[in-house]
Amino acid sequence: MIGKLNHVGVATPSIETSVALYRDLLGVTAIGTPFDLPAQGVKVCFVDLPNAQIELIEPLGEDSPIHGFLARNPKGGQHHVCFEVEDIIAARDSLRAKGATILGTGEPRIGAHGTPIIFVHPKDMGGMLVELMEPVKETH
Ligand code: CO
Repeated sequence: MIGKLNHVGVATPSIETSVALYRDLLGVTAIGTPFDLPAQGVKVCFVDLPNAQIELIEPLGEDSPIHGFLARNPKGGQHHVCFEVEDIIAARDSLRAKGATILGTGEPRIGAHGTPIIFVHPKDMGGMLVELMEPVKETH
């Protein structure tokens, strides 16, 4: 069972241009600092909304997986949605047992929040690329 919507991933040819839209057009003030995720070939910037985040994703390097998306959608657009799960391994195994395809090796990798993530193939999700992530564990 999935938990909260964590973020909507939005591919963009320019984080700077997209940040300006959220800031100037939509009035968002809580916008993070862009950072590189070289292992995933992307530059990322989070826009904080009261109930979720927008993850702006810009290609980083020649082999970025975002190039293909931007070739089909030159202005950018919605790329994936990310739901939180309590246990990423349990979620993966449950999905596989029900016949869904996990992208890549299926081994979780560390995502933009520094926690384990996997992606479910869009063909199994009505055409929508779905990221599952373990949320940052609260430490008190
Ligand atoms: Co994401």
